[in-house]
Amino acid sequence: MARHLGSRFLRPVAGYSQQAFERLAQRWDGRCPLVLDSACGTGESTAVLARRHPAALVIGIDQSAERLERGRRKLADTLPANALLLRADTTDLWALLAERGVTLAHHYLLYPNPWPKAEHLQRRWHGHPRWRELLALGGQLELRTNWQLYAQEFALALRQAGQVAALRPLVAEGTALTPFELKYAASGHPLWQVQATLDGGAPSHPSAARAGEPGRERAGDQAGKTPVDR
Ligand SMILES: C[S@@+](CC[C@H](N)C(=O)[O-])C[C@H]1O[C@@H](n2cnc3c(N)ncnc32)[C@H](O)[C@@H]1O
Repeated sequence: MARHLGSRFLRPVAGYSQQAFERLAQRWDGRCPLVLDSACGTGESTAVLARRHPAALVIGIDQSAERLERGRRKLADTLPANALLLRADTTDLWALLAERGVTLAHHYLLYPNPWPKAEHLQRRWHGHPRWRELLALGGQLELRTNWQLYAQEFALALRQAGQVAALRPLVAEGTALTPFELKYAASGHPLWQVQATLDGGAPSHPSAARAGEPGRERAGDQAGKTPVDR
């Protein structure tokens, strides 16, 4: 983690992630709060979050075309107009947004794969080489998982990066936010939630591609001031 905080991950962005980023940039006006639902699976959570944050543009991102397609079919009549499902490696989108100084209102990481083997640490979000970019995106960050150790590591990594992180058992909200939450809750798994308010970086818009170009509105600031963004 310390290594990743001090260095840049130079893997090129995948073509499909670049295309997703361009769609996002076309769709976002640069002023309304921006919410990411990273690794959204079929996007059911994206739909719920879009209703929960009606003043925001809520982007659900997953690398699986098959899951997204299944979600699009299921949500065909119910996906709110302020929700957008995109196929991308979400860490590529973090890098593309962070590079341009874009900050988020909220960022959700819901039920990531646990990657339980030690050699898979780099695949956990807090062990990923793009952890630095995730932190730079700012906003209200929320992780949910059924694996307590993942939540503990995630909270520890946030604290090591100088952030204040709260780890607690997830209190059931009535309806599950995602299919995995539903599945785990139904089989009686205790669920965990980590929340943190990240500082983020300088304001900008995806179209402000050149370093040093003055940015437009900061999505996170707007969200903080907008009472309708709950
Ligand atoms: C366990 S599923 C959880 C899906 C959803 N959040 C839920 O709770 O129902 C993990 C998801 O992460 C996606 N995923 C894993 N790594 C990813 C990455 N780097 N970029 C985008 N999606 C990713 C997988 O395709 C899968 O849909």
